[in-house]
Amino acid sequence: MPLMEPYRIKAVEPIPITTREHRERALAAAGYNPFNLSAADVTIDLLSDSGTGALSADQQAAGLRGDESYAGARSFFRFREVVEELTGYPHLFPVHQGRAAERILFNALLKPGQLSVSNTHFDTTRANVELVGAVALDLPCAEAKDLDSYSPFKGDIDLEALQRVLSGPDEVGLVIMTITNNGGGGQPVSMANLEAVARLTREHGVPFFLDAARFAENAWLVTQREPGYADRTPRQVAQEAFALADGCVASLKKDGIVHMGGLLAMRDPELAKRCELLLIATEGFRTYGGLSGRDLEMLAQGLVEVTDPAYLRSRAEQTAYLAELIADVGVDSVRPAGVHALYLNAGRLLPHIPPSRFPGHALAQEMYLAGGIRCAELGSLYLGELDESGELITPAPYELVRMAIPRRVYTKSHLEYVAETLGEIAKRPERVPGYRLVEVPALLRHFNCRLEPC
Ligand code: F0G
Repeated sequence: MPLMEPYRIKAVEPIPITTREHRERALAAAGYNPFNLSAADVTIDLLSDSGTGALSADQQAAGLRGDESYAGARSFFRFREVVEELTGYPHLFPVHQGRAAERILFNALLKPGQLSVSNTHFDTTRANVELVGAVALDLPCAEAKDLDSYSPFKGDIDLEALQRVLSGPDEVGLVIMTITNNGGGGQPVSMANLEAVARLTREHGVPFFLDAARFAENAWLVTQREPGYADRTPRQVAQEAFALADGCVASLKKDGIVHMGGLLAMRDPELAKRCELLLIATEGFRTYGGLSGRDLEMLAQGLVEVTDPAYLRSRAEQTAYLAELIADVGVDSVRPAGVHALYLNAGRLLPHIPPSRFPGHALAQEMYLAGGIRCAELGSLYLGELDESGELITPAPYELVRMAIPRRVYTKSHLEYVAETLGEIAKRPERVPGYRLVEVPALLRHFNCRLEPC
């Protein structure tokens, strides 16, 4: 069947259509930082796929059935039933979003000075590891370095390096695998890699957790790319992945297809007790963990819908279609296309802009000015080392822009509009200016900085 969304639209929301003059004013007022823009000034919002998905009619109906009792709400038991069936973990807690699960788990599990080892820690995950005084170590596989190669599982961890670290002098408190690998180009992790990690961590007695924010999209790519998995359903693959680990943290704002929600789940009853105390003290009682009954019901339904092969196929095809459209107009992205986002190779498109003038950020600004498209840089502005005045000391390895694709929100013609806008920019890339920082906060730079074109 040709590419087609397997749903029709029952409720619509108008999107702002603006003029270039309006966007120039809005961006200048935002200090050339997309996080400062008002959404009312954004036509196509590709800033994040987190909490930005469209609810189904069944989810809305489930929401109405939400039981808002303080403790023991019916909605919690529905949520628990679905999560247990999916993950097999006996101890599970709802939390308001992924980073809450991270904070609770790391406080209960990690000791100062210990290592947390990952294929790539997402930025909040790294921050929460560091907040408890532990050290976050990323060991992406060698294939991840080549942005253009079609290697199928560039999200894998480097197993040899992991083995060395596990056998080395440093104490490893946790191995956490991010599926799919958001910080590493949205690339999937193979089941073979997860199996090897499970074996190594078991041998060394180290807890193994999944950061499962995009567990269904990872499972889909396994069915498509990994030998031996073509006949499994994405749900079976996801279940097998959870079965390999000792527990998970998950932002359910992604593959839960809800606006707010997260999960912390595990096998170890002693660890669960410690987590429960922190949960009750900081998130909410164990049967709601910061969510309403309505949220829990919608999540339970979303976690069923998200592994539907027709939905996953269409979502993956949308992203692959956009990757081909933009390649045709001369814009490269990290290959092969993942599912939740495309990562544009801005460094290659804008070679006249040195890393110190942030080519990724420059491309993101131009996409907004040219078409009202909002997305964010993943390059030297976000990851580079700067001095106090905002001058770059050490650039990031790549200058990328992430275009994250909300679930069930945009249609094929919206994606074509994005590709056309990029095509216009790619016709005269030398016209795109670089940017320099004029305000550099010490913490969380990319959210709060201000820049100007130069
Ligand atoms: N882990 C991964 C892999 C993520 O992508 C995110 C969030 C989190 C953890 C934290 O979850 O936001 O619910 O607290 N990623 C969003 C993004 C923000 O745009 O990629 P959260």
